[in-house]
Amino acid sequence: MLSGKTILLGITGGIASYKICELIRMYKRANADVQVVCTPNALNFVTKLTLQTLSKNNVAVEEFDIKNYNPEHISFADKADIMVIAPATANTISKIATGVADNLLTSIACAFTKPVIIAPAMNCHMWENPIIQENLRKLSCTVLEPESGYLACGYLGKGRLCKIEKIFDKTAEILNYKPLTGKKFVITSGGTFEDIDPVRYISNYSSGKMGVALADSAKNLGADVTLITTKDVSKKYNVIKVKSALDMKDAVMREFDNADCVIMAAAVADYRVKETAPQKMKKTDEDEITLTLVKNPDILSELCSLKARGQEDKKTGYIACHHDIRTSYPLVVGFCAESENLIEHAKEKITKKGCDYLIANDISRKDIGFSSDYNEVTILDKNGGMKKLERADKMTIAYQILEEIF
Ligand SMILES: Cc1cc2nc3c(=O)[nH]c(=O)nc-3n(C[C@H](O)[C@H](O)[C@H](O)COP(=O)(O)O)c2cc1C
Repeated sequence: MLSGKTILLGITGGIASYKICELIRMYKRANADVQVVCTPNALNFVTKLTLQTLSKNNVAVEEFDIKNYNPEHISFADKADIMVIAPATANTISKIATGVADNLLTSIACAFTKPVIIAPAMNCHMWENPIIQENLRKLSCTVLEPESGYLACGYLGKGRLCKIEKIFDKTAEILNYKPLTGKKFVITSGGTFEDIDPVRYISNYSSGKMGVALADSAKNLGADVTLITTKDVSKKYNVIKVKSALDMKDAVMREFDNADCVIMAAAVADYRVKETAPQKMKKTDEDEITLTLVKNPDILSELCSLKARGQEDKKTGYIACHHDIRTSYPLVVGFCAESENLIEHAKEKITKKGCDYLIANDISRKDIGFSSDYNEVTILDKNGGMKKLERADKMTIAYQILEEIF
């Protein structure tokens, strides 16, 4: 995904250095060439061996360990498309801001003329120190501010390294990596709400986070995104808020016609109440009441059969259906949330529904899936192929899914 791009990754002596191993893996998965440069202090926190194994390049530390006629701080600065310093210590930030070039990393930063991203991480009092704040203001680069939370030093405050995905996204954005430009993505998210009466409903625990992560990733990769969701989200792309399965179906069908890819990540209720009471239902003397449920439309199956019909009509030359002018049909991707026999059920579902891909996730686990910020999924394709994506935050999983399907 980032092929042809060279990222110069500077690591300094902060406790968050260990998190950068995951960032290197993300860059490598995106096919970037990663050249790691460490301050000598960084090697107290993370080993050269780990960094060079992950980056598949030698790790540079010493400024005067020159292998050819060309000083490394100049050749690295010339070769890279972007420099990312993460985590950036208060010490290194202050040195770069004031032009101190006393090790390989700070010398490269001083000579670097292309975009630079700095992701600071430090104790909250260091972060609040007016001298550090003043030095940060002197930097003419993108600063990804730290986040608030519990810090490794035991304090609660601002200073935690921002999310690794944020550093990855910013790198991709600056390198203008937009492989999905011109593609329209329709993505659904969240559990639907099926009214019982004006104050009660039937729903599920879906948080909608996976769908939002997919929409954010597709947008970052240049796609024209429409998110159809049951949740309140405010984004820089088109968001259509819906409530019930029927509303969601209407919205999806409206958007389907000119989409290149439809990803159904929403947890659509299988059933709705047959007759929604117009007024709040009163408590009665009965110990039991019965609600009659009726089946909701299966949006994924309907999309798949629309697509199949359209493709068949095109083959036979039949021009009658509403999508007859299409030359190609959107990729249809479904999600399958199961609490047991995940792969078995997923295989049955992809055959039955006829979608191009099915993303299977195990909702019985507390550490992934519904409501969690993490996921672990298996991607099944219509030809019987399967690929497992190891547990990672939902943004990373989203990028990997898009990479796999598009
Ligand atoms: C256990 C430990 C954790 C540290 N974590 C941080 C940190 O997160 N951020 C920071 O600015 N400094 C941190 N420091 C202090 C830096 O290591 C120190 O300022 C050092 O001079 C930074 O060198 P460098 O910027 O050349 O890598 C830490 C020090 C220790 C001993």
